Amino acid sequence: MNDLDQFLDNLQEEIFDEAREALGEKGFDRWRNPQFAGRMENPDAHGRVKGTCGDTMEIFFKFENDRVKQGSYATDGCGSSSVSASFAVELSLGKSPEELSDITGEDVIGLIGQLPEADQHCASLAALTIQDAVTDYMNNHK
Ligand code: FES
Repeated sequence: MNDLDQFLDNLQEEIFDEAREALGEKGFDRWRNPQFAGRMENPDAHGRVKGTCGDTMEIFFKFENDRVKQGSYATDGCGSSSVSASFAVELSLGKSPEELSDITGEDVIGLIGQLPEADQHCASLAALTIQDAVTDYMNNHK
């Protein structure tokens, strides 16, 4: 291994250590192996919200019998926003529109286990994006 490789290896290890500490083991794992990431073709509901931080989050749902059967997300935000959106989708699976409306940022953080204080608004943004998707679903199914 040459010096540059060694340097990059150490750098990556440092970044991983920091992320593991910030997100906890469960959040760190999700950050490394994102689940539900990607846009969905022809969703039944699509939420899109730009947070005050300037990042945009999108959540897509397909419903069956008025319950979320499938979900996915896209975000141009930080690692915490990706982890938050991923767990927000996980939290949404199987839920009715009414139950989705009750999901809060705290619920998302609860499922992750922890989120740095400075990134807690990322979880709130995920909850807001779910609400936006619910509004879209309601509008489509009037
Ligand atoms: Fe904007 Fe995380 S900093 S969503």
